[in-house]
Formats: sequence, C-alpha cells, structure tokens
Amino acid sequence: PYSWYQEMRERNPVYYDPKQQVWNVFLYDDVNRVLSDYHLFTSQKSRVPSGFPRISSASERVRMNEMDPPQQVKIRSLVSKAFTPRALRDWEPRIQTVTEFLLDQLDEQGPMDILEDLAIPLPVTVISDLLGIPSADWKRFKNWSDILFTPGSRETYADLEEKKAQARRELGEYLYPVVQEKRENPQNDIISSLTQAEFEGDKLSDLEIIHFTIGLLAAGNETTTTLIANAFYCFLRDTPGIYQQLRANPEWIPKAIEEVLRYRSPAQIMTRRVKKDTDVFGPVFKEGEHVIAWIGSANWDKKQFSHPEQFDIHRSNNQTHLSFGKGAHFCLGAPLSRLEAKIALTEFVRRYPEISLPRGWELEDCLEEGFNRLSRFPIITA
Ligand code: HEM
Repeated sequence: PYSWYQEMRERNPVYYDPKQQVWNVFLYDDVNRVLSDYHLFTSQKSRVPSGFPRISSASERVRMNEMDPPQQVKIRSLVSKAFTPRALRDWEPRIQTVTEFLLDQLDEQGPMDILEDLAIPLPVTVISDLLGIPSADWKRFKNWSDILFTPGSRETYADLEEKKAQARRELGEYLYPVVQEKRENPQNDIISSLTQAEFEGDKLSDLEIIHFTIGLLAAGNETTTTLIANAFYCFLRDTPGIYQQLRANPEWIPKAIEEVLRYRSPAQIMTRRVKKDTDVFGPVFKEGEHVIAWIGSANWDKKQFSHPEQFDIHRSNNQTHLSFGKGAHFCLGAPLSRLEAKIALTEFVRRYPEISLPRGWELEDCLEEGFNRLSRFPIITA
C-alpha cells in the first residue's frame, strides 16, 4: 500500500470517503493528533469493530480501548503494573526459555517457517503465561483468537458469524472455571490480580474478567507475530548485509526493531469518532463522524522521517513512529512485544550465521494474496 499512501499524502492528505462515510488522515502530524487528542477524537465507537465479542453489556465497563480518559485510565491501571519494563524483567528468562525451546525443535536440514515455528507460538505462549492460563493450550488459544480477530478473507459472512459464536462459547467455557479457581486461590498472574482488583467500588465480575482476558489475548498475538516476521522480511528485502551486521552487533537489535515497526507497522490503522465539530485539519469534521488514522502512512511521512523508503536502523528518531499509537491509549503491551522481539532476534542471530529464502522463492510469495500480510515464511538457516 506504500505507493498509495504516498499518493494520498501528496494529493489528498485529509480525505472524506463518501462511500464508507469516513474521514481518512495520512500525514504524521494529523495521525498523531487523531490518536492523542481525545477531546476532539473519541475512542467510543458506535459501530462494533467486526469480530469483537460482545459477551454482555456488563463487559462494556472494561473495554479500555473504547473509552476516553479518565475512565480508560482507571481500567487500564488495573493491569498496567504487569506490563512495565520492570515487571517484565522477571519474565525475561521465561521468554528466553520458550524461544530456545522453539528453536531447538527445528529440523536442522529443512527450511523453517518463521511464522509457524517462532513468530506465532512465542507471543501466544508468553501471554498465556502472564495471564496464568496453561501455555500448553496455546494452539487452542491461537485458533480461537484467529477466528475472532483475524478471520480469513475467503469465508462468507454467515459461516464466519457461526464460527465466531462457537469460538466465543468455547473460550468462555474454558476461561470460566479458570477465573473461579483463581478467585479462590490467587497466584502471581494477571487473571488472579483481576479477581482481586476493585473497580468503581466493587470487584470485577467473572464475565468482565473473561472479557478483559480475551482482549489481552487478542491485542498481543497477531501484532507481535507480525512484528517478528516483519523483521525477517525487512532483513531479507531491504538491507543486504543487515543480518550480518546485527549478528556482529546484537546491541543494535532494539533499534532495528524500532525501524521494523516504523517501516512495516503491524497495525496499519486505528479509528476514532469526532467528539465535537472541528476544522483543525481544514475541512469541517462533524460530531459523530468516523475517522481513520493511517499509521502505516504516517510512519512514511518524509516531513518526519527523511528518506522514509530506506530501511535504516540508525535513524536518530525511528522510535517516534506511531505503530504503538500515541497518548493515553499508547499500547500497553509495547514493552512486552519489544522484549519478545529482542529476545527472539538475539537468539536467532546468535545461532544462525546466515538466512535466505529457499531456492525459487521470492519474498512476495510469502505475502497473503491481495494483502500486505505475511502468510507463510520459509527460511533456510545456515
Ligand atoms: C493499544 C499496537 C502488542 C495490548 C494499542 C494501540 C496500538 C497497538 C496501535 C493503540 C490503540 C488506539 O490508539 O486506539 C500494538 C502493536 C503490538 C502490540 C504494533 C506488537 C508489535 C500488544 C501486546 C499487548 C497489547 C503484546 C498485551 C498483551 C494493548 C492494549 C491496548 C493496546 C490493552 C489498549 C490500551 C488502551 O486503550 O489504553 N496497541 N500492540 N498490545 N495494546 Fe497493543
């Protein structure tokens, strides 16, 4: 989509799409403003984002990504402690162990698949651990989370709704006894701490906790998977020799990760609604209208990043990308996904002197048809 983004930035940076009835903003400063100025752009949505399970109206209370401050700040604070870089330090050895375990399993001869073998299982195992649900069940979680949040493009609407209803039932049935058990015997995990937390004068209900848990499972899986896989995509495509440089200088890996985030944002858009009429971008945006903030485009705005089309891990400002959002809703899981990506890539370059695609493969073959999303990603390691 990057050439289309460029065209929009140059010709139509603030664009009303009459068909979809939605405003679109493409420039860095405008995307920044839409994401962070909650006085003008609210996260309260009237439309249900497709696939988001409405378990009960009670669960509205814990939907932090669809609230504005100060309510959102309160609900976020129930879990924010678990995601600070400091709290995550305790999890480092576990993330390291999972990474090593996954890489140890690989057949040394054949190609590995970056998605199936590493980028998918790592985040889902880690978030299961943090939540306090058996990580051995990760395949079931991945499956539920895919059905609910990243449905395939080929399914009909009716099939999909039926599958989603089924997945919601199964997930709810799976989590319900887990929550009850933790209410009785709290452990050192996020679900346990939610069972004990007070919010607006009372404890969260089982359903609210289940909803919260599903939200966390969903928010961090696909995005972190995409980040890790995108790193390999960028290394193989954009900068010959970068893999060797990182192998020689593994301390550069964190800034390489920031550049991967800038270059190929795992979440390309975020949406808001206009809270009150405004002309901050020129034309009048009317109260209630929908706005799409194109993060993927903002990250390639040359006013913010010189030569944005160059993948350059040494940019001084690459961490000003908007891939984790901005302001009050800034991604809660950012430190976790950065840490997972760092550990995974560090262990990877330590083990394998070289990476390449199998003979006859082009990088474009790894992208899902019609999408910019990676769907399979075989890599030969040496
Ligand atoms: C919010 C991206 C990983 C949990 C966000 C937002 C973005 C984002 C753009 C802002 C939403 C908005 O402004 O409306 C990403 C990316 C990730 C990632 C690119 C990986 C590379 C994670 C992980 C978790 C997580 C691992 C948790 C386990 C959340 C939550 C919010 C959020 C709970 C809502 C925060 C709030 O509304 O206050 N994420 N995310 N994310 N993310 Fe992430």
